[in-house]
Amino acid sequence: MAAKKIAFVAGFEPWREAIDLRLARVLRERGDGPGRLGQAVRYAALSPGKRMRPLFVLAACEAVGGPWKRALPAAVAIECVHAFSLVHDDLPAMDDDDFRRGRLTTHKKFGEALGILAGDALLAFAFEEVARLVDDGVPAGRVVEAVRRLAHAAGADQLVGGQALDIGAEGRKPTARLVRDIHDRKTGALFGASLALGALAGDADASTVEALEAAGRQIGLAFQIQDDLLNATATSIRTLGKRPGTDAARGKATYPAAVGEARAKKEVAALLKSVRTALTRRCSKPEKIFKLIEAVARRER
Ligand code: IPE
Ligand code: IPE
Ligand code: MG
Ligand code: MG
Repeated sequence: MAAKKIAFVAGFEPWREAIDLRLARVLRERGDGPGRLGQAVRYAALSPGKRMRPLFVLAACEAVGGPWKRALPAAVAIECVHAFSLVHDDLPAMDDDDFRRGRLTTHKKFGEALGILAGDALLAFAFEEVARLVDDGVPAGRVVEAVRRLAHAAGADQLVGGQALDIGAEGRKPTARLVRDIHDRKTGALFGASLALGALAGDADASTVEALEAAGRQIGLAFQIQDDLLNATATSIRTLGKRPGTDAARGKATYPAAVGEARAKKEVAALLKSVRTALTRRCSKPEKIFKLIEAVARRER
């Protein structure tokens, strides 16, 4: 599969392969929709993304002392929510983008109606998948908490709400406070859920789950600021996998637009440093999360 060509985070190939294998298998087995809907769902979900969020799910499970494989249904569920959010984010009524992950966006390839429906299908599928944590021995009460956390992170108060704020803020000079709120919701929440669900699968206690959720949110905020910086500075679709320069063209509320590139870069470094400190205190095996955080700091795509 083309996805294997992107060795984005060195050393994570076995995890990445496990995520992609399960994603492909469960979509096939449980039905990704008839005809071209199924093709659109697979195109959106299996295309060569970095799989950062599901890698963080597995790393969080391991960080609290759990076996990473037990968190795989949560990892796949989170990636399905992410894939849904990207397909809808690219629609003409939203950011109106034509490239994603080095390919045509889903609606460009399959038409707008199937783009919308593929996103809908992926969001619903995520909840079928996260419920499967129970099959791998996660206690039912923890699975219910995982479902609730995922629903909250994906919904109107968080990811979808952040997207609404993002669209509403187009064309005005943003304050840093507004951008932080948008980024925390549209991106921070799903990273927070990624670490929280990994910790739940790894049998962490309630305060550790909370601490990992908070750390994940900070990582997500840093990740989105980095995305803003890359949108402003990258020069080709080939390196970025999507069209650069689109934020300025649409007058988006970005960190560099609010505080300038230099301060935005400093903010990324400061956020990631404070996350490392928090995780060191909380986790018995944080090495993999630290490696992923380094990859976030270094990323160029
Ligand atoms: C893109 O996320 C959207 C943002 C929240 C910045 P990623 O950069 O993780 O996208 P893929 O999954 O690798 O394509
Ligand atoms: C994407 O944000 C956030 C979500 C999809 C929830 P952006 O619109 O800033 O990201 P890209 O640049 O399209 O990947
Ligand atoms: Mg957007
Ligand atoms: Mg976008």
